[in-house]
Amino acid sequence: KEFLLIDKFGRPLQDLRISVTDRCNFRCTYCMPKEIFGKDFKFMPKDHLLSFEEIERLAKIFVGLGVKKIRLTGGEPLLRRNLPELIEKLVAIDGLEDIGVTTNGSLLERQAKALKEAGLKRVNVSLDSLDDGKFQSINDVGVSTERVLRGIQKAQEVGLVVKMNMVVKKGLNDQDIIPMATYFKNQEIQLRFIEFMDVGRSNGWDFQHVITKKEIFEQLSQHFDLEAVDPSYLGEVAKRYRYVGTDTEVGFIPSVSESFCSTCTRGRISADGKFYTCLFASGGFDLKELVRSNLSDEELTAAFSPTWESRGDRYSDERTAETAKNKPKIEMSYIGG
Ligand code: GTP
Ligand code: 5AD
Ligand code: SF4
Ligand code: SF4
Repeated sequence: KEFLLIDKFGRPLQDLRISVTDRCNFRCTYCMPKEIFGKDFKFMPKDHLLSFEEIERLAKIFVGLGVKKIRLTGGEPLLRRNLPELIEKLVAIDGLEDIGVTTNGSLLERQAKALKEAGLKRVNVSLDSLDDGKFQSINDVGVSTERVLRGIQKAQEVGLVVKMNMVVKKGLNDQDIIPMATYFKNQEIQLRFIEFMDVGRSNGWDFQHVITKKEIFEQLSQHFDLEAVDPSYLGEVAKRYRYVGTDTEVGFIPSVSESFCSTCTRGRISADGKFYTCLFASGGFDLKELVRSNLSDEELTAAFSPTWESRGDRYSDERTAETAKNKPKIEMSYIGG
């Protein structure tokens, strides 16, 4: 019954990451540095944002094309008004197997309950250090670690499954790897170490800043016994390990040192309704225009399909110092990672 979309390298479209706002209440130095994302930065005007009804319609169409998993991102997705209403609409879609939200956690204490009641099952929370001074200098807006930890605790209390993301950047938070691993192991929460990536053009990325999965793994091995865990599905981004003798896992997202483009089944929709076939894309396909015209679902599908079918992206496989520096790319806060 399904008409599946397959790209040039045989990769089906199975995961959709939908950004619901390009705004964030953090100014992480490696993502939205204040010099660029300051008072004068022009975020999207409200009428450019896809409405929840438009997102719902697109989601249904994409699930019909084979999408099984949807993740809501930002900027910071919890800044989008009434987000639980969107979750409720998505939860009701037949054939959609998994819905996730990736958040900085600062608004989670207040919103966890409503998200859970809307039908959300899990959240991924970003935290780069447990050292309050360091964390505040990274987020650059004075949010304390304690506030994020309270958000995590609240999420768990209401029954959301929590996973943690930590971007590791050399010279920034190398010292925080073991404290973070220890803390979240004790909390029985999965932590994933993310290699620092050259997303966008404003984060000053350089190979020198990357601490690879191998290096992090070696550090961890000096403190913990780890055993590899099999991937739970084709194209899983994180390589996971288990702390021997526990049920707690720890993961790595090695998009620089062990790129995973060959199994990349992810499409991305920006908050203003552009479809991107890669996190490192320079341009997107305008879905908003289609959704706001009077096309039927079938016509919209026909107009969109070539975008996926002609997809040949494998940026992380091909990355060089030159592309990292000079290729025009969309910003992380615009496309949600
Ligand atoms: P789970 O469904 O819980 O496994 O979530 P996820 O890891 O797919 O999503 P999350 O938003 O937590 O992303 C974690 C990190 O992986 C972020 O830094 C993303 O930018 C990165 N990531 C996710 N998908 C891709 C991808 O297709 N390519 C690259 N290069 N990085 C990705
Ligand atoms: N490299 C890797 N991960 C990044 N994130 C933001 N910027 C980068 C980058 N340059 C992370 C966020 C969040 C996830 C969606 O992506 O911290 O955990
Ligand atoms: Fe930081 Fe995430 Fe906001 Fe970027 S989008 S500034 S990584 S919290
Ligand atoms: Fe997919 Fe692009 Fe990331 Fe490769 S770099 S895994 S093609 S999003």
